[in-house]
Amino acid sequence: MDLLTYCKRLPKIELHAHLTGSLSDATVLQLLEVKREQLGEHHLPDSAEVTIRQGHNRSLEECFKVFGILHYLSDSLEAVENITRNVIQEFAADNVWYLELRTTPKHIPGKMTKKQYMDTVLKVVRSEMEHNKITVRLLLSVDRSRGVEDAHTTLALAKHYRVSTEYKDLVCGLDVSGNPHVGSLLDYIPVLEEAKKCGLKLAVHLAEVPNEDEVQAILNAGLVDRIGHGTFLHPGSGGTQDHLTVVRNKLIPLEICLSSNVKSGTVKTVEQHHFARWKELKHPLIICTDDKGVFCTTLSEEYYLCAKTFSLPEEDIQDLCLQAVEATFMNQKEKTILRQTVQNELKSLQGKLLM
Ligand code: IMP
Ligand code: ZN
Repeated sequence: MDLLTYCKRLPKIELHAHLTGSLSDATVLQLLEVKREQLGEHHLPDSAEVTIRQGHNRSLEECFKVFGILHYLSDSLEAVENITRNVIQEFAADNVWYLELRTTPKHIPGKMTKKQYMDTVLKVVRSEMEHNKITVRLLLSVDRSRGVEDAHTTLALAKHYRVSTEYKDLVCGLDVSGNPHVGSLLDYIPVLEEAKKCGLKLAVHLAEVPNEDEVQAILNAGLVDRIGHGTFLHPGSGGTQDHLTVVRNKLIPLEICLSSNVKSGTVKTVEQHHFARWKELKHPLIICTDDKGVFCTTLSEEYYLCAKTFSLPEEDIQDLCLQAVEATFMNQKEKTILRQTVQNELKSLQGKLLM
């Protein structure tokens, strides 16, 4: 098998995927069509505004404008249902066996409450798991640009699901994301502390842009289970030795999003990505898409890009799949089952990669 085919065949685990950022071109076109029927041609964004074609880049600020457009296009419960269904089916078609999807609960006056938004997402997750070979779990996203009060309502909702009979098995934690240039993570520490007390796992976007104080405070608080990006943590990539030591000692996995970082310009080239520095240290690293729609990628392509750029031998590629299993927010029993099935599949692929 050639490398790309091999990466497509790998049993993959996706741990960092934002629902709205994962919308494919086909889904964006469907949403545009619905809006066109409702509103006519006026003021509709062009679909080219919404995705990043192969070889094109967008700054982080421009990406956040794109999220705004995507939110506008998916501002009904019917749209939320469709986007959730499409995104799960697309990950399943890419041979993703386990998906931790994250999304910001949205309150749109007159259209949906945060609970209605999440109930809709969860209902679709449940039904898609019955029809596809994929296990899905949810992280509720706290958007750092929306303020602490908003974060508390998201936490309250996550707590509600944790004790609900219907969805407690599907909601596993919180994500903290949003524009890293807006607000301060320090303000969110009490929310994270409370979340942790309630048994919620925490994945936090950290050091996506340089911000030493924030990194220091979050690492000192000792609450984070996985780090999103961690671009400016390693002293070789603009971080400090102290940060490196804490993250290494606690073996906090890093969610690595190669295309996202390069296309949004926080990392210059894939070759210069911090993946290489952390890999040298044998640190747990998880290959993820971040926003497969906005950055025009798939998880298979991210594995391919990583393996090709860093000349990874087959053993290392397979090891990335297994590291991802260990970093999931599943309980030990579920993890054991997933590990076993992934290992069996990896074994059946062994030796089939033509280097
Ligand atoms: P949603 O939460 O399903 O609406 O997914 C889109 C949201 O994810 C955006 O509005 C951001 O808050 C967040 N997001 C997506 N990509 C990034 C990123 O690279 N950095 C920080 N936040 C992100
Ligand atoms: Zn992200």
